[in-house]
Amino acid sequence: MKVEVCTGRTCKSRFSGYILTRLENDKKNLNLKKLILHECPCTGNCKKWPNVIFDGKKEEYMNPAKASKIVLDTLNPKPKKQALKKTK
Ligand code: FES
Repeated sequence: MKVEVCTGRTCKSRFSGYILTRLENDKKNLNLKKLILHECPCTGNCKKWPNVIFDGKKEEYMNPAKASKIVLDTLNPKPKKQALKKTK
């Protein structure tokens, strides 16, 4: 999964650096080898800061928790719930 965090002037002033740091920590702590992180210049969508691009799909109004959730939901799909067995 390729993630590009906008570090243009507007997004940076709205703490996009925290998003990058959060994702770097997730990558390190959860050993997410498939996560490729990049900074990117202004995406031209400054009004809806901060912007993050996940595999080419632009997401607006990001924050560290939302970005982390998208990455974890994509790379670590939740295990399916197993049906409970009835026991007597
Ligand atoms: S600075 Fe991030 S979209 Fe312009």
